Amino acid sequence: MKVSIVGAGYVGLVTGVGLASLGHDICIVEKDERKLEKLNNGISPIFEPGLEELLNKYKEKIIFTNNLKKAIAFSEIIFLCVGTPAQDDGSADLSQIEDAVIQIFRNVNSYKLIVEKSTVPVNTHKLIKWLANRYGGKSEFIDVASNPEFLREGKALYDFLNPDRIIIGVETEKAKKLLLELYEKIDAPKLVVKPATAETIKYTANAFLAMKISFINMIADFCEKTGADVEEVALGIGFDKRIGKDFLKAGIGYGGSCFPKDLKAFIYTANEYGIDFSLLKEVEKINCNRVEKVFRMIKNVLWNLVHKKIAVWGLAFKAGTDDVRYSPAIRLIKKLIENRAYVYGYDPKAIDNFKRSIGFLEGFSAVDDLYEVLDDADALVIVTDWQEFKEADLEEVKKRLKLPIIIDTRNIFDPDNMLKQGFEYYCIGRSGCSNVQKNI
Ligand code: UGA
Repeated sequence: MKVSIVGAGYVGLVTGVGLASLGHDICIVEKDERKLEKLNNGISPIFEPGLEELLNKYKEKIIFTNNLKKAIAFSEIIFLCVGTPAQDDGSADLSQIEDAVIQIFRNVNSYKLIVEKSTVPVNTHKLIKWLANRYGGKSEFIDVASNPEFLREGKALYDFLNPDRIIIGVETEKAKKLLLELYEKIDAPKLVVKPATAETIKYTANAFLAMKISFINMIADFCEKTGADVEEVALGIGFDKRIGKDFLKAGIGYGGSCFPKDLKAFIYTANEYGIDFSLLKEVEKINCNRVEKVFRMIKNVLWNLVHKKIAVWGLAFKAGTDDVRYSPAIRLIKKLIENRAYVYGYDPKAIDNFKRSIGFLEGFSAVDDLYEVLDDADALVIVTDWQEFKEADLEEVKKRLKLPIIIDTRNIFDPDNMLKQGFEYYCIGRSGCSNVQKNI
């Protein structure tokens, strides 16, 4: 089949490359000329395992263009994969969706299936249909479907090709047939529902996962005070199939381009429909406090922060990505610097994005080496759980640090082993680590 995609961000690019690998012909429209040039040269503008390889493998099947008209003429199916960032009031900014569909409707004269792939609030499909009438798109030619994406950054292609489910939100038989045919080769449960339900499934999934994280983070706080161990509690409850073992990793809280913005938008939309989603407000509040908690922990461990040198491993919002959007590292590092510490940061992939995102920040230096960043530091703070950190040579770490102090916000090491190796090892909600011994 032929498919057009508007937007070559994470979702658009992975959808395009993934669909090409299933045998479809793809036309991707992107406004950003620099991105376009990279893509046309077979370079992925984002770090995502396997993406660049597949991009090159299927380059004959993918056209990159800045010409929306060309993409409209290319296919009956047009995926909307543009950004829907949060506005100050928490609502989703749908202006890129509006821009794209207005241009589509002004240039359309035959049947089109417009598919929402970006995360959009419930009933956005109705607004798109309404725009079709207003902008001469002849709504009888137009179907609007919701087909939310559940991929995770860092595992995006795997998730796209091996999803737990495919949600198809449609109003007509024709739209249903087209989307089922498109995903024919993917062996996953396919749930056909109304568009409003599909739009709601996406927000519900992200909100539920965020809730799991805040829940286990509260349990971690409880464990810290009581001598229980959050890793073992998570394991213990995870065996229960009704709970499940995933997304129960306590730490510094969730970040990224999805959970923070989607929770805000969900709360906002609920409020617009007269529902006070107080549960999700609490999830957000708990998450927001995680960075504060880690900051207090560092302060309790080091006492004065003035002119202390603190090494940070991990700048991305999680391991496996170069994305720093809503990364807890940003807030934590700014707070340490406000308190006059000197921060030296290392990340295997995200240093450039981090520097671009914070601009010049006096007191912060990026170091491009796992060990060099530790030289003469008063403590190491681990903020993401990259494999490289888990496999680090701990003797070397100890040798480089001024004091053998590690504050691990992702629980990547075994506390007993760390203490045995001569570290002061502080982590989240675990028995046997230095927090409990020193009551920090
Ligand atoms: C998330 C969802 O997992 C995807 O299903 C969804 O498609 C995507 O948002 C989206 O809406 O586009 P992503 O933001 O890539 O994917 O990252 P996750 O792996 O879900 O992690 C989100 C945050 O939660 C990270 O900061 C991570 O460190 C944190 N996390 C995750 C925890 O603190 N504990 C956990 O147990 C799991």
